[in-house]
Amino acid sequence: MRTLVHTRQGDPAQVLTLREDPDPPPRHGAGQVLVRLLVRPVHPGDLIGVEGLPGLPEQRRPEVRTPGVEGMGVVESVGPDVRTLRPGRRVAVFPAPGTWADFVVVAAERAVPVPEGVSDETAALMLVNPLTLLMLYRAVEHALGQRKGPVLQTAAGSSIGRLVSAAAVRHDLPLVNLVRSASGARTLRSLYPTLPVITTSDGDWREQVRHLTGGQDVQVVLDCVGGAMTQDLVALLADGGTLITYGRLGPGTTTLEHLPLGQRGLTVQGVTVWHWTHRTPEERAQDIAFAVDLAQSTPDLFEVAARYDLADFKTAVEHARRPGKSGTVLLTSPRSAGTGREAVR
Ligand SMILES: NC(=O)c1ccc[n+]([C@@H]2O[C@H](COP(=O)([O-])OP(=O)(O)OC[C@H]3O[C@@H](n4cnc5c(N)ncnc54)[C@H](OP(=O)(O)O)[C@@H]3O)[C@@H](O)[C@H]2O)c1
Repeated sequence: MRTLVHTRQGDPAQVLTLREDPDPPPRHGAGQVLVRLLVRPVHPGDLIGVEGLPGLPEQRRPEVRTPGVEGMGVVESVGPDVRTLRPGRRVAVFPAPGTWADFVVVAAERAVPVPEGVSDETAALMLVNPLTLLMLYRAVEHALGQRKGPVLQTAAGSSIGRLVSAAAVRHDLPLVNLVRSASGARTLRSLYPTLPVITTSDGDWREQVRHLTGGQDVQVVLDCVGGAMTQDLVALLADGGTLITYGRLGPGTTTLEHLPLGQRGLTVQGVTVWHWTHRTPEERAQDIAFAVDLAQSTPDLFEVAARYDLADFKTAVEHARRPGKSGTVLLTSPRSAGTGREAVR
C-alpha cells in the first residue's frame, strides 16, 4: 500500500514523500467502507493544504498527513451495517481526507456510486467542482437578489470557471470572464462564444470591463485570484455590490481597511465547498444527483490535463501549477495492485 505523506508544510516536492507499507490497508469501522483508489485529482486546494497560504506562519502538524479530498475507486470491503454498497462497486468519494493513497476509509454516505458510462477519470472529478459550482451559483443568486447587472469572474479558464460559464449560458446570467493571458482568452471564446472575455495582461483591462458593461457597474465579482487584484475588483463593483471570494491564486495582498466597504455598502463573502456538508441530507442528495447528471451528460466539462502514477507526484504537482494548463491533473494507481496495469479507462 502506497501513501503520500507530509509532516510539515512547504513545497510539495520537498515535504511530500511516498511511503510504501507492506501492512494490510486500514480497516473500516461501523458505517464505513474501505475504497481502493484508482484516480484522484490534484486540486489547487490540495496544494494549499501541503504548502499553507503565503503570509501565514508555517503550521507544523504533529501528525502525519496525507493530502487529497476526493477521488474514485472500487469498494474493497464494507462495515457490517452498510447496506447501500457492496465490494466491487465503483464509487466517487468526497469529502474523503487522504485520497493521495492507494486506500481510503470513508463513511458510506460519502461514497457515491458511479453510473455505468461515466469513466473513472470523470468520476474522480465528479464531486468537488460541481458542488463548488452549486455553492457559488447560490451565492451569486443571493447576492444579486432583485438587482440586475453584470457578474464578473476571475480565472475564468479554470475548471471551475468553465463550469460557471456553462451555467451562465444555460441560465442567461450576464457573465463577464477575466483571464490572465491572450491564449487563455482565445480558448475560452472558442468554448463559450456568447460570453465576453477580457485579458488582465492588457494594461486597460479595467476600462475594457467598464466599456463592455456600458457604464453599468458590476453587481457581483466571483473571485479566486484575490491578492493584490482585490483592490481593482472592488473598484469595479457597484455600490452595494458583493465580492465573493473562494480561492487565492494571485500574488500580493490587499488590506481590508483599504477597501471602501463601509462607505459604499459593499459585501465580501467567502465560499467554501467544505460548508456543503452543512446542508440537509435531502439537499445533499439533490446536489449529488446534479453532479452525477453533469458527469453523465457533459463529460467534456471534466477535462483532464494529464495523468501520472501516484509515485510520480512531483511531476504531477509541477504540471498542476503550469501556466496555461487546461483541465485537472490526475494521480493514478494500478487497477490491480502489483499488475502495473494502467488504472484509468
Ligand atoms: N472555495 C472552495 O471550496 C473551492 C473549491 C474548489 C476550487 N476552489 C478554487 O477555485 C480556483 C480554481 O480551481 P480549479 O481547480 O478550477 O483550477 P484549475 O483548473 O487548476 O485552473 C487554474 C486557473 O487559474 C488561473 N490562474 C492561476 N494563477 C493565476 C493568477 N495568479 N492570476 C490569474 N489566474 C491565475 C490559471 O490560468 P492560466 O490558464 O493563465 O494558467 C487557470 O485558468 C482555485 O483558486 C481553487 O482553490 C475553491
